[in-house]
Amino acid sequence: MTVIPIAIVGAGGMGGRHLRALGSLYESGMANVELVAVCDTRKENALHLADKAEEMLGSRPEVFTSMEDMRKKRPDIEAVDITTDSGSHHMVAEMAFDLGYNVLCEKPLSLTIRGCNRVIDAWKRSGKILSVAEQERRDPMCRLNKAVLDSGVIGIPYSMLLGSAGGGKEIIILPWRHYKNIGGIFVDAGVHTVDQMMYYLGDIEEVFAVSKIWEPKRYRGERIGVHDFYDHWKDEVPNEIDADAEDMVISTLKFKSGAVGQWTSFYAAHGQATQYGMIYGSKGSITPAKNRRGDELTVTIDGVGTISGDEVLELVPDFHLDELPARLFGSDRLGSYNRPTGDSDRFLVALEYYELGQCIADGTVPEVDAYTGRKDLAVCNAALESSVLGRPVTIEEIENEETAQYEASINAHWNI
Ligand SMILES: NC(=O)c1ccc[n+]([C@@H]2O[C@H](COP(=O)([O-])OP(=O)(O)OC[C@H]3O[C@@H](n4cnc5c(N)ncnc54)[C@H](O)[C@@H]3O)[C@@H](O)[C@H]2O)c1
Repeated sequence: MTVIPIAIVGAGGMGGRHLRALGSLYESGMANVELVAVCDTRKENALHLADKAEEMLGSRPEVFTSMEDMRKKRPDIEAVDITTDSGSHHMVAEMAFDLGYNVLCEKPLSLTIRGCNRVIDAWKRSGKILSVAEQERRDPMCRLNKAVLDSGVIGIPYSMLLGSAGGGKEIIILPWRHYKNIGGIFVDAGVHTVDQMMYYLGDIEEVFAVSKIWEPKRYRGERIGVHDFYDHWKDEVPNEIDADAEDMVISTLKFKSGAVGQWTSFYAAHGQATQYGMIYGSKGSITPAKNRRGDELTVTIDGVGTISGDEVLELVPDFHLDELPARLFGSDRLGSYNRPTGDSDRFLVALEYYELGQCIADGTVPEVDAYTGRKDLAVCNAALESSVLGRPVTIEEIENEETAQYEASINAHWNI
């Protein structure tokens, strides 16, 4: 097997999560990429990740603070994994392509359509691979959910209802998730949700939404410590910040298929937190499993009743996971799995790395490519644009930049 030398660019929390994923890929016996360098403009972060890599992978990656320097000193590196903050993706990815790298870029591809297009132009100029790191659809339970939907057992999909509420007025993980120009929490988490909705039901074509910033002041809380990937930067989190990114967006979504979605994304909810999801069709419903938890999904069919767990597998006799997910999760047909979330998280990111290696080796197109990554963002930004304009907004209008009032200040900030 060809093993491709890669570098992680961006050695913060997600850089650490990606490193753990590489550990799982190495352990699987199917590693087709090898970490040989880490790059971060903050040298201390790059050194911290290199220390962890040495501990975890048994060899120390070289440390760089600029990609240009890395290109000169390690011309053997073929791909970079961009885990810098979302506001910088358009610049870092463009530079990576111009330096001749293949790219795995964390979601969102950029914060604006113009930023995405800059990356797409650079990608096309380079002739290299661009994969957007969207791991959630790779969860074995999401794969099963999709297979059940495609089997037609719940009939024609009518609607998807999704919602989550929580967060209060605490800073969510790190302050940047409350800054519009770096990637507010709605877009940061929303691209995952949109990717999943469109994976299940096909493209969304129009959104009507209302957004708010309920908590313009956010305070340091307990949630930083919960995410151990961010422990290293815990003391840098201030006691109080001014938030300018939306913390509530409630949307109605029209799918091209005719299905209608309702999506509540509420990060300033006090009191009891909630999270729900349902897909309704002409013959029944599916309660999709929550990501990375391995919970059973539940299928309820008119005239048949409710089926869950391994019985769901009987609805899709031809359903099988690919070799690597089957190896990592323990079987190629899973009705549920019982793993700590940390394990499933690193397994899913390991699948992204493996796919990147395969695409570089044989020129195939990644599952979440530039256009899917751009559309995932476009739906989120259509919701935000819709709230600014007070009318429904089509995804076409957003992707063609026919209206971009919400994005304007981000484009101005980054000079895109
Ligand atoms: N897929 C997921 O589930 C998931 C989860 C969390 C974060 N993310 C994404 O990962 C990205 C990083 O998030 P994070 O939480 O790790 O942020 P972070 O702030 O913890 O880390 C970002 C790192 O990038 C470095 N950096 C910034 N600009 C750089 C540049 N030009 N060159 C090199 N290094 C640079 C910073 O110094 C920092 O070390 C974001 O885009 C976020 O949306 C994805």
